[in-house]
Amino acid sequence: MSSSSSSTGSSDPGRVPFVDLAPQHLAIAEQIAPALERVMAAGCFTDGPDVEAFEEAFASFCGARHAVGVASGTDALELALRASGVQAGDEVIVPANSFAATAEAVVRAGAAPVFVDVDRDSLLIDPERVEAAITDRTRAVVPVHLYGQLAPMVELEALARRHDLALVADAAQAHGATADGAGIAAGVTAAATSFYPTKNLGAYGDGGAVLTDDPAVAAHARSIGHHGVEGDRSVHVRVGFTSRLDTVQAVVLRAKLEHLERWNRERAAAAARYDELLADGPGLRPPVTRVGNRHVWHLYVVRVDDRDRVLVELGERGIGAGVHYAGPLHRQQAFAPWRGSAHCPVTDAAAASVLSLPMFPGITAAQQVRVVAALSDVLPSRTAAGHRHPVA
Ligand SMILES: Cc1ncc(COP(=O)(O)O)c(C=O)c1O
Repeated sequence: MSSSSSSTGSSDPGRVPFVDLAPQHLAIAEQIAPALERVMAAGCFTDGPDVEAFEEAFASFCGARHAVGVASGTDALELALRASGVQAGDEVIVPANSFAATAEAVVRAGAAPVFVDVDRDSLLIDPERVEAAITDRTRAVVPVHLYGQLAPMVELEALARRHDLALVADAAQAHGATADGAGIAAGVTAAATSFYPTKNLGAYGDGGAVLTDDPAVAAHARSIGHHGVEGDRSVHVRVGFTSRLDTVQAVVLRAKLEHLERWNRERAAAAARYDELLADGPGLRPPVTRVGNRHVWHLYVVRVDDRDRVLVELGERGIGAGVHYAGPLHRQQAFAPWRGSAHCPVTDAAAASVLSLPMFPGITAAQQVRVVAALSDVLPSRTAAGHRHPVA
């Protein structure tokens, strides 16, 4: 789970849930029932033509030559790293501000995560910090397209070329995002994404995909997820495990993919509405979109003082908010062996102040007005001079 508040839906019309998946389900309900009946009747539950059809459609949507469906976003990242050549003894640079899965996948690939800080405006990985962290053991960098916008790929691609590193993007939160028109699979060795139910493209359970233009990387990732077979199903050329996208999920995802552009536009409209409502409202720091980016607003993340109190008081007013992320990766017990001398003051400050407001396709203007009214209730207002209350 990627959020500390992934509660969905609400039966009380006065409440605003953090995420409501019901409008998405309604959009595909009629289409999905007969498709699922067909899968049940055919009895083909893994691999097969429905999975292939989704992989093709998703690759085309992302502008990639290949998409490999797998069992989760975390698996997708591990497989993408391994297929990109990451192995035991390597170092892989990751941003400290991300979900645990980013670093878990590195460890599962046998490598050591090296945590670097993020940019103070976008909260995305900072290329200068990446450059400073490179050693002769560095094999790859994982830009995380956090909250729904691309990391600074032009700088990272140049850096990867200079140092001969693989770029393996964590695009779990960025289906449909672009930078200067280039999508999540452009310029990288591979990208990994998640179909966790609350993602912009979410399954009815877990799922993920590896995206790449390189047929060898795609074949390698697929092989790992099929017990290391290559070609003949009885020939195991490497040690793998089971990681496939279920047919049921492929059918759901293919139906949802047809709506994704519209849903992303609805998210963008909701983000613009928050921008407007918050402009003269409570003292907080709004999200920053990098120039040239098409943000797909998986999350609308503001920064506030006294965040934990604000979160509780919003909850008391019926507003479901989230925190992404309260625990920087370099401070997690799980990653203590790889903490090294990680120094990430921007991530540390963000962890204490980030607050994700309700965001989902179908959120209404009235719901957003309620969110902002509740924020105005619990936050100090702007100063008389009209400046925002300073927030780290
Ligand atoms: C940034 C990020 N990376 C990786 C993942 C892992 O995806 P999954 O939960 O499908 O394993 C997630 C989602 O939870 C995520 O938000």
